[in-house]
Amino acid sequence: MATGISALVIQEFCKVLGPEAVSTSSEILEAYSHDYTEDLRFFPFVVLFPTTTQEVSEVMKICFREKIPVTPAGARTGLSGGSLPVKGGVALSTSRMNQILEIDERNLQVITQPGVITQVLQDAVEEKGLYYPPDPSSKGSCFIGGNVAESAGGLHAVKYGLTRDFVLALEAVLMDGSIIRTGARVLKNSTGYNLTQLLVGSEGTLAVVTEIALKLIPKPRFSLLLQVPFDSAFEACEAVSEVFRAGITPSALEFMERDAIKFGTAYLGLPDTLPESVQAVLLIELDGQHQSVLFDDAEQVAAVVEKRGAGEILIATSKEEQNHLFRVRRCLGEAVKGTTIYKEEDAVVPRAELARLLSKVKETGQKYGFQSVCYGHAGDGNLHINIIKTPDLSAHQWETDIPYAIRDIFQYTVRLGGTLSGEHGIGLVQKNYMDIAFSDKELELMRQIKQVFDPAGLLNPAKIFPDRE
Ligand code: LAC
Ligand code: ZN
Repeated sequence: MATGISALVIQEFCKVLGPEAVSTSSEILEAYSHDYTEDLRFFPFVVLFPTTTQEVSEVMKICFREKIPVTPAGARTGLSGGSLPVKGGVALSTSRMNQILEIDERNLQVITQPGVITQVLQDAVEEKGLYYPPDPSSKGSCFIGGNVAESAGGLHAVKYGLTRDFVLALEAVLMDGSIIRTGARVLKNSTGYNLTQLLVGSEGTLAVVTEIALKLIPKPRFSLLLQVPFDSAFEACEAVSEVFRAGITPSALEFMERDAIKFGTAYLGLPDTLPESVQAVLLIELDGQHQSVLFDDAEQVAAVVEKRGAGEILIATSKEEQNHLFRVRRCLGEAVKGTTIYKEEDAVVPRAELARLLSKVKETGQKYGFQSVCYGHAGDGNLHINIIKTPDLSAHQWETDIPYAIRDIFQYTVRLGGTLSGEHGIGLVQKNYMDIAFSDKELELMRQIKQVFDPAGLLNPAKIFPDRE
């Protein structure tokens, strides 16, 4: 693998893309040296900004010939280090591939380039009365291509599904520059191996996605949001699966422990007005076409959570009030990152096991002496576990002991029937835990798939697979 890139090759990139789309400026290199993952930094040698699939193909051919590593990069809001150019080389930015190509109102589909901001895409289809539900908290800045790479989730995955559940077809460029198309613009497809779903969530390690066909649904007309406080975080978690068992499928069911709320409100400069005794809050959103049904469902939800000791429930009916309540929840990732150094895990368990996972995190914290802040998509059994680097943790504890603590938590997660990541991906920071979720044989199968797509190991190297001893 080439580490530096010669002036001649840089000239070749300039010829293909135009010199303004080839950057070695320190500011741009710095911007592409990090994403939202911890405080990690890896500098690319050059950042390329192609506009078309053909341009991506041309630069990939050059990199393939010269054995230059290529790391695809979107908005770099990821939390597992998927877009970090760990081996230097080229950071391939999709930021100029930012066109929505077609909104197909007859078939409820949208065809888009990867560099479109998720919120921009959602707003564009909403203008036509349509809905693209996956909405990571970073939706105002993340790219749809990054969402596809990681199969991003978000608050509405619990009812509507993850990014992967909306991807019908892809165009992508392989490391050798070949352009492929996967899937079809249809809602059912039983034609050969499902390469579309293989590429979704593959974190840019198999191909560079250059065009995406997504399905859409009609926009629900009404929503209600319940803020439900609990004096016990564990009771809050136990209430979650009971809501579903009562026959209700909320459109969002989010969990925040009190410390998370404190981080969020402090970050936004808002007062934390909850009573002192509150240890956790569930945000339960209901949506649908008939408001009266939602009120009936809300009553049923209230009856379920009250049995688990819920405090006074606040019901937000207007979009404004709902957005206000969701604001704290959506800012938590940024709030934790903006406040402290931390490690973040994205463990997911069967929904009814959530309380056990939370207990394990707290017990492990006591054993290893770390503080954790937990929040997440409780309806999906998906807990975002933020381990905080408090001043009393030594560098040795942080670098050596905490990974053992994380290993403990992941082993328990897998024993509960869960797995390592629900929506953030494995990327760089979770790869050395992959042996917990997979046998050698299973990992070998995955390595062989990587080999088929990228025999020289140049595309987004050093991701997903554990380091070999
Ligand atoms: C969230 C991001 C961190 O749920 O996934 O806010
Ligand atoms: Zn999340």
